[in-house]
Amino acid sequence: MTIMGCKLAEWYHTNARNLPWRVTSDPYMIWVSEVILQQTRVTQGLPFYYNFITKFPSVKTLAEASQDEILKIWQGLGYYGRARNMMKAAKVIMEQHGGIFPDTIEKLKKIPGIGNYTAAAVGSFAYNIRIPAIDGNVRRVASRLYGLQEPIGTPKSDKKMESILLNEMQPYPPSLFNQAMMEIGATVCKPINPECMQCPFEDVCEARSKNLQHVLPVKTIKEPPRVVYMNYLFINADGVTWLQKRLADSIWKGLYEFPSTLGTLENKTTNPFHDWFINTDELVMDKPLTIKHHLTHQTIFATLWQFSCKEANIVGEKVQDKIRTQLTEIESFPIHRLMLKFLEKSFNN
Ligand code: ADE
Repeated sequence: MTIMGCKLAEWYHTNARNLPWRVTSDPYMIWVSEVILQQTRVTQGLPFYYNFITKFPSVKTLAEASQDEILKIWQGLGYYGRARNMMKAAKVIMEQHGGIFPDTIEKLKKIPGIGNYTAAAVGSFAYNIRIPAIDGNVRRVASRLYGLQEPIGTPKSDKKMESILLNEMQPYPPSLFNQAMMEIGATVCKPINPECMQCPFEDVCEARSKNLQHVLPVKTIKEPPRVVYMNYLFINADGVTWLQKRLADSIWKGLYEFPSTLGTLENKTTNPFHDWFINTDELVMDKPLTIKHHLTHQTIFATLWQFSCKEANIVGEKVQDKIRTQLTEIESFPIHRLMLKFLEKSFNN
């Protein structure tokens, strides 16, 4: 099966969205865009992209930035490990490559956070290296186009896809081929209700001819998310509160949040933070606020316990290793989306 001869280049030039990372061959800009786009869609990603390259216009500026600055720019995108890896990557590029982005796939893949997909995207867009960039969109397009029945995203099915697409991309500039495949995936060959009539592959698509668009791609079965209960402590001591920085090796490492403990399903009524206060009689407690928060592998039921009291009523030992801050300053710290939800719900009430 081949799509050669179909009007891929023409389709792309007529239909592709005009996006800032498509009109540059600067590997740094391309890399930044690709990491952001692994996280979110183009429309949501654009403001993050502009913020990021305005604040950190080069590998050097990124390498010299503080973790807090980078996480603050990343705030809201999720998967903060990616932002932490970008920091490490920038340092490696400064120290080991003289500040110049490596220009081979092998060297790119040695940079922290750069895997097969990102290496191929940066390699093909910045350096015209002939290698298919296979992300979720491209997997969907290819599995439909060639009628591939194997579950997508396994190393084995990716290898097979890569070899088919490598052959297929021969007549095209590598960057055009990869951008076009992504664009078809994002705008035409959508997960549900693909717009086959708009697709340059319409006449040659296996799924279209056999009416299998809704069967393909076959997905790998995922484990259901783990359910976790958390308690968070919000104190308002005349406009002052306490935060902690996540240090443990978790997805939220480096981010700031209210002090927390693991909770249980049962505890909805007993204050798990009673030992924070010298005299609980002088404590005003608001109704606890529970929020359900979804992560890729976890569903968190997070309860925010809300108290007002005098600062003198707080056990000194408890806040020794915490960060004392004004309520109005909380948002100047890099915080995760669950914290943002807390702030939105709790302060708006
Ligand atoms: N998704 C991932 N990479 C992309 C790109 N370069 N353009 C549009 N969407 C994308």
